[in-house]
Amino acid sequence: MYSRLKIFSGNANIKLSNEVAKYAGIPLSDAEVFKFSNDNTFVKINENVRGADTFIIQPTCYPVNDNLMELLIMIDALKRASAQRINCVIPYFGYARTDKKDQPRVPITAKLIADILTTAGANRIVAMDLHSSQIQGFFNIPVDHLSALPIFTRYFKAHLDLADAVVVSPDTGGTDRARSLAKKLRCGIAIGDKRRAGNDNKSVVLNIIGDVKGKTAIIFDDIIDTGGSLTKIAKVLIEHGAKKIFAACSHGILSGYAVKNLENSPIEKLFITNSIPLSDKDKVNCKKIVQLSIAELLAIAIKKIHTEESLSILFR
Ligand code: R5P
Repeated sequence: MYSRLKIFSGNANIKLSNEVAKYAGIPLSDAEVFKFSNDNTFVKINENVRGADTFIIQPTCYPVNDNLMELLIMIDALKRASAQRINCVIPYFGYARTDKKDQPRVPITAKLIADILTTAGANRIVAMDLHSSQIQGFFNIPVDHLSALPIFTRYFKAHLDLADAVVVSPDTGGTDRARSLAKKLRCGIAIGDKRRAGNDNKSVVLNIIGDVKGKTAIIFDDIIDTGGSLTKIAKVLIEHGAKKIFAACSHGILSGYAVKNLENSPIEKLFITNSIPLSDKDKVNCKKIVQLSIAELLAIAIKKIHTEESLSILFR
């Protein structure tokens, strides 16, 4: 059994960390995480953590390398301060898309990051909706892989008319994800035939497999980055007769022209979680974006991990 529970936050998503701490019923622990003028990141833990069960909340979102470095240095500081266990809560795991050697002479960066986190001293990872579940296996320490699916399910059941709904995966890789949501919403699925050409972010949607005519399509993906995938499939869904289009993604990266693309698309609402903060005005003011909080889910997970209870209930 672990004695004291302490929750720390890096700078990546302090709003989320505060919300999690509130749900967990304890204040965020005191640490300074900042950069010197020479661009070096520095961390100082301002309270005793000897023998403590520590959790660091830090999504590795934009600026990815800075946030990752903060996390690594926080782990190191806690390790050298004799924390008993260091749990890294990484609601959004950057570099997750570089998870296989699918071209000659390319890295598997997700595996590299897993190795670096472990070498730094992480004892456990708490992640959410990793780009591919296999990334869990890149770590040789326990990984609790949470899902925002119950949060989306609850919200959709309460707020959307699901009578003619169909869950759409933008590509074949996301079929299982779409099927899980469709099962919970008791509706069918359709799949986009999406291809990516080259190394850039550009994708093309060639066809839709499944019946979407006259239906309310809910496009379901793990990530919205530039918005290319979602907006392209939305257009093809309209061409195939879909009457209404919603989209839901666990992680709203919203890079480049994502918000503009979304505004100009037939997507009525985009549901994302707060794993990544909505940093700039455009994103906050975009009427189409609805952010659902994962704070309570993370707080329950942290408390259950601390008391060594099963997390199964979080998937129901
Ligand atoms: C791809 O495999 C992912 O699941 C997402 O579809 C993709 O990352 C979204 O990127 P973008 O918004 O730039 O099309």
